[in-house]
Amino acid sequence: EWSSQPEVTAAHPPKNAAGDGDRRPISTVLIIIAMQTEALPLVNKFHLSEDIDGSLFPKGVPWVRYHGIYKELHINLVWTGKDSILGVDSIGTISASLVSYASIQALKPDLIINAGTAGGFKVNYLYGIGARQTFSTPNLIDELNLKVGKLSTGDSLDMSPQDEVLILANDAVVKDMEGAAVAYVADLLSVPAIFIKAVTNTVDGQKSIAEEFLQNLIAVCTTLAQTVSQVVDFISGVYQIIG
Ligand code: ADE
Repeated sequence: EWSSQPEVTAAHPPKNAAGDGDRRPISTVLIIIAMQTEALPLVNKFHLSEDIDGSLFPKGVPWVRYHGIYKELHINLVWTGKDSILGVDSIGTISASLVSYASIQALKPDLIINAGTAGGFKVNYLYGIGARQTFSTPNLIDELNLKVGKLSTGDSLDMSPQDEVLILANDAVVKDMEGAAVAYVADLLSVPAIFIKAVTNTVDGQKSIAEEFLQNLIAVCTTLAQTVSQVVDFISGVYQIIG
């Protein structure tokens, strides 16, 4: 259990502040990813191996787990896989919720990282500065110089006018298709979760969203993998507070 106001803050080794309860290092990290193109650079970076027998998940599901040890962390990367009928990546909130649930049950992670691409806004980036995050990581953000903002999740790459009204009213600055689903399940099962999103396209510009997305996907996924690995490097020295 994390403390009620957990923070990924401590550098190694932790100071034993009074009243903070016991501490132990973060040991198991679960990375949840929806697209193969997003997943593979990380599988390579961490030298993860694929679970061939698929024993972790029910028979027939397309979900793929890669795992390995990196800097003493048990890294599990779960990709939602290809839809068995349509042959495309299982993107969106339904697969993301199911995979989150099944993976948390099976792996009991100390931390979830939902990593992926997202659409961004040109007009209102500034509104996102200082927005609250699901799980507070001030030191990590400082150290890695990451931008913090509210993420809006929906089951569509395009943004309908109705979505736009709500997204802007809530000061969201990036838009993805899984984050809120992962956050919901992580919350249900009391697992801290962080969300790392790399922007492939704008959703409020003149260009076609799908075109811009595909144009930038490969390059952005390389950047995403670099950032996720920096985050994992940071986490490898972090302790969680129990009690
Ligand atoms: N992922 C990448 N671009 C996106 C967009 N425009 N909407 C939702 N998810 C995305």
